[in-house]
Amino acid sequence: MSTVVVVGTQWGDEGKGKITDLISEQADVVVRYQGGNNAGHTVVVDDVTYKLHLIPSGILYQDTKCVIGNGVVVDPKVLIKELNYLKEKGVKVTDFYISSKANLIMPYHRLLDKAEEVRKGDGKIGTTGKGIGPVYMDKIGRFGIRMEDLLTPEIFAAKVKEVVELKNLIIEKVYDIEPLDADEIIEEYMGYAEEIKELITDTSVLINQELAADKNVLFEGAQGTLLDIDHGTYPFVTSSNPTAGGVCSGTGVGPTKIEEVLGIVKAYTTRVGEGPFPTELEDQVGEHLRDKGHEFGTTTGRARRCGWFDAVILDYAVRVNGLTGLAVTKLDVLDGMDEIKVCTGYRYQGEVIKEFPTRDDILAECEPVYETLPGWQEDTTQIKSYDQLPENAKKYLDYISELVGVEVSIVSVGPKRKETMILRDLLA
Ligand code: GDP
Ligand code: IMO
Ligand code: MG
Repeated sequence: MSTVVVVGTQWGDEGKGKITDLISEQADVVVRYQGGNNAGHTVVVDDVTYKLHLIPSGILYQDTKCVIGNGVVVDPKVLIKELNYLKEKGVKVTDFYISSKANLIMPYHRLLDKAEEVRKGDGKIGTTGKGIGPVYMDKIGRFGIRMEDLLTPEIFAAKVKEVVELKNLIIEKVYDIEPLDADEIIEEYMGYAEEIKELITDTSVLINQELAADKNVLFEGAQGTLLDIDHGTYPFVTSSNPTAGGVCSGTGVGPTKIEEVLGIVKAYTTRVGEGPFPTELEDQVGEHLRDKGHEFGTTTGRARRCGWFDAVILDYAVRVNGLTGLAVTKLDVLDGMDEIKVCTGYRYQGEVIKEFPTRDDILAECEPVYETLPGWQEDTTQIKSYDQLPENAKKYLDYISELVGVEVSIVSVGPKRKETMILRDLLA
């Protein structure tokens, strides 16, 4: 048995989809443990690009079981659309299961997500508008409607009627929007239930049986460490726990079963949505990174904010996730730069701090302290082994690794499977 968690170390979009797909070759089971279709994971196989929002990135391997754990929030309409999308692309979805305890994204969640962003105005979070905040609020508030409810129409109808009555009060009185019709929602969701009911099961039992049978399991994180509801740049975060600890609560697998935690690290930094970002570059260098790295959101198409690599953030991600290895992605995007900067600390009120601050107002005042490293002019996209990388590229990787005290296990120099150097197998 081997287990690995694939976790984003920054603000998401680090390349988790690509690395998950790559390691999935050795995995028997691939599990999503949190988030919903706010995620956008891109996987490129040969010349075909797959954009996945909800279904684990292991789905492209025929013999791999894929699981949506209880910590994930599922919009059934999006799930069915994604299943059809895969079918149209010729991908057979056979061994795929959804936790009976996963909460359902309902129409009022999407509506309230967008309405609350409008109400906040300039203070908005910049959410994806998929209903993520409101569905997790209901889960914690014990108003959640779960996958298992779809299997018993009377229970489902009763719960929806009760919750919609309350939601309509908020929708009308707080946001001044047209109320929703509970019967219409029930009918719509009963239609979805017909299509997905066979997939719903107790996935904690399933995953633990696989572990007991000595199988390899990969846990695929969505979002990233700085978007974590507890450890991220609150309140500019998502509403789940993408950090490695989220695996246990989000799947029903105990912490003693987790062996490796692979941090996915983009060779520079990006962020979508609002909130402080110390190394952000609002200049030509930032534009260059956005153009060369195609930094436009998979889910919303928004331009991603770009900046230099930030080792204060990675050091923090090492601490809160217990990382055992790093997968550095998009190294190729830095090809051709004269020099590359790495943020090694923050200047705050005249002092240099090394620990990532927990308060967003403090972070907003932090000025990055940079170390400047020489760049490299060679094209790295065709390179197949670490030794063949340009000397300065190796120096860059070694520098990052030494700063945070964690080995580089994977280096990625392009979106395709082949454009990767694996220094150590994480699922042995
Ligand atoms: P995720 O949300 O963490 O899965 O990341 P996204 O898929 O949203 O964004 C990463 C983007 O970078 C995708 O378009 C990938 O195809 C692409 N990508 C991944 N690794 C590399 C790499 O090493 N080099 C380049 N140039 N692109 C990459
Ligand atoms: P992947 O898995 C990047 C951001 C949104 C917003 C904040 C809250 O592709 O890395 P939400 O809709 O979750 O309530 O939005 O979180 N966000 C992401 N940013 N990558 C993601 O996922 C994200 N999922 C949410 O932009 O700032
Ligand atoms: Mg993404």
